[in-house]
Amino acid sequence: MEIIFLLSGENETLPKAEINASLEAENASFKVKYHDQGILTVEIPDEELNIIHELGKKIAYTHEICKLLFETDITNLNKKIKEYPWKNVINSDYAVRVKKTGIDPNFNSQAMEIEIGAIIKGNLEDKAKVNLEDPETFLRTIVTGNRVFVSERLIKRSKKHYYALKPHKRPFFYPGSMSPKLARGMNNLARVKKEKTVLDPFCGTGGILIEAGIIGSNVVGIDIDEKMVEGTKKNLEYCDIKDYEVFQGDARNIKLPYKVDAIVTDPPYGISASTAGIESKRIYKESLLSMQEVLKEDGYICMATPHYLDIHELVSDTKFKIIEQYHIRMHKSLTRVISVLKRSKNNM
Ligand SMILES: C[S@@+](CC[C@H](N)C(=O)[O-])C[C@H]1O[C@@H](n2cnc3c(N)ncnc32)[C@H](O)[C@@H]1O
Repeated sequence: MEIIFLLSGENETLPKAEINASLEAENASFKVKYHDQGILTVEIPDEELNIIHELGKKIAYTHEICKLLFETDITNLNKKIKEYPWKNVINSDYAVRVKKTGIDPNFNSQAMEIEIGAIIKGNLEDKAKVNLEDPETFLRTIVTGNRVFVSERLIKRSKKHYYALKPHKRPFFYPGSMSPKLARGMNNLARVKKEKTVLDPFCGTGGILIEAGIIGSNVVGIDIDEKMVEGTKKNLEYCDIKDYEVFQGDARNIKLPYKVDAIVTDPPYGISASTAGIESKRIYKESLLSMQEVLKEDGYICMATPHYLDIHELVSDTKFKIIEQYHIRMHKSLTRVISVLKRSKNNM
C-alpha cells in the first residue's frame, strides 16, 4: 500500500525527517517512493496500516495522511476516474478535494473537483451523495507537475492542540519556552514512543516533557532553578500528565538510578534563559558527558542549539555523533539548530 503525507511547508527537511524517524521508531518496513513539492509517499505493507494510524496521532509537521488509490497524469485522469471501482471505496457520502502544488497558481482546482465529482457520481449511479461538510469518504486528489495522485484521506491533523497549548496559555510561563509543535517534532526525531522514558535535563517550563507525555511516554525533568521545577510540575498537571518525575538538579551531573530511552532538550542559549552564571559552552560539553551516562546504548538525543554554537565541536569529546541536523529560523538574529545524536558504532 502506498501512503501519501501532505507536509507542512514550514521547513524544507524536518517534515520528512519526522516521518522517517517515527516510522523507524515503530519498526515499520517502509520505503520512501516520492518526495517533492510538499508531498511524500511511502510504500508500507498492508498489515502495517495500524502504524500509520499511530503516526497520525503524533506527528507535528504533516497536515494530512492519505492512502493512494491510483496515480496517473492530467491527460488520463478523467478516463482513470471513470474506470475506477468507486463502490469499493464509497459507501454513503463523499467529497472530492484537489490540492495543487508546484504548478501554475492559476490552475483551476475547483473546476477539477467539480469534474471529478460528476464522473464519480455517474459511476456510482446515485447510490452515494456528495457531502462537502463532513463526508464519510474524503477523496484527496493531488496535482503536482503532470503527476496526479488520487487518494482517500485517512487522517487530518488538527492544529488546535498546538494553539491551545502555546506556552503563554499554560499556568506557568517563562520567556524562551519552546513552541509545542517544535517540541513534538523533536520528540519524534528522538524516536520517542509510548511507555518509554524521556529525559529533559534542562526542562524549563516543561514544553518538551508535555509533548512527550501526550505521546504516552514517562517523563523525567531536571532544572537547576527550583522555580522552573515547580512550574513544570504545574504545567504537566494542567495537561493531565501523571507519569512524571521532575526535580531540581544540575544537567552536568545527572543523578538517576536508571537509564532513559531518549533525551530531548533545549539547553540555555546564554541570552534569555538562565545559565546560572556558567559559560554556556561549558554547560553543553559537561552536560553531554553526563547524558552519555544515563542514556541507554541505543537511545537518541534530540537537542536544540543556537546557530552560533558549534555543536560539532561540543559533541567531539563525547561518544555521540550527529546523525541528522535541521535549521529553523526563529528571527533575524537566531536560527535554532536541531541535531539528532546517537552513540557512534565504535562506542556502543
Ligand atoms: C532554554 S530553557 C528551556 C526551555 C524549555 N524547553 C521550555 O520549553 O520551557 C533552559 C533551561 O535550562 C535551565 N538550566 C540552566 N543551566 C542549567 C544546568 N546546569 N542544569 C540544569 N538546568 C539548567 C534554565 O534554568 C532554563 O530553565
